[in-house]
Amino acid sequence: MKLVKYLANLGYGTRRDVTEIVDHGLVTRRDGSIVRDGDTFEHSDLLINGTPCDPSPGAVLALHKPTGFVCSAKETSRLIYELLPSRLLARSPIMAPVGRLDRDTSGLLLLTDDGKLNHRLTSPRAHLPKVYVAELASDLRGDVGAIFASGTLLLNGETVPLRAASLEPVDRRRVHVTLYEGRYHQVRRMFAAVGNHVVSLRRQSIGGLDLGDLEVGRWRELSLAEVAALLP
Ligand code: URA
Repeated sequence: MKLVKYLANLGYGTRRDVTEIVDHGLVTRRDGSIVRDGDTFEHSDLLINGTPCDPSPGAVLALHKPTGFVCSAKETSRLIYELLPSRLLARSPIMAPVGRLDRDTSGLLLLTDDGKLNHRLTSPRAHLPKVYVAELASDLRGDVGAIFASGTLLLNGETVPLRAASLEPVDRRRVHVTLYEGRYHQVRRMFAAVGNHVVSLRRQSIGGLDLGDLEVGRWRELSLAEVAALLP
């Protein structure tokens, strides 16, 4: 793909805007040579106005979502895109979240502009384990682990039982829950179904990728090896 179209797709502006940037010699390689439309280039070598180019097409980002932010513009709250370079929202295709976290849930959220990969990661067939850390309003009852693991728990208003999920108590009011599917407000509704209430919820990992030391509100691009390790 030619440079102007490539950068326009990455959200650097309309083709006219980008043509201007390119014509002014503001797109360079790391060795300082200017890149013109029609030249060959390597994404990782590109500097725009002296700054490395945004993540390449097909990139996967990990965001440590804070509470108070939502994943969809259909909801009325601050959007997760406030935490990312604004160009990512102007991309074609858009850098979309992989599944969702609700407004009051923090933790690991993946984003990608690769629609097929997004679909593969969210497909129930992927059986991708997601680990949540929940704080509970009341002490954990002894039978809850077995109920979650049974594969028969029916959430309010649903007709298909939940897949078996595993529960690991940390203490009486703190648990790790591993899910293999992602239904609306699933963890909160699971605890509501057993008479408890989730006070705080954080997604700690997805398919073996842990939040690690990624600070709240920060994001990073995953390496190819990390992306490959996400999918079985
Ligand atoms: N379960 C919830 O209740 N909320 C989320 O955001 C994810 C899982």
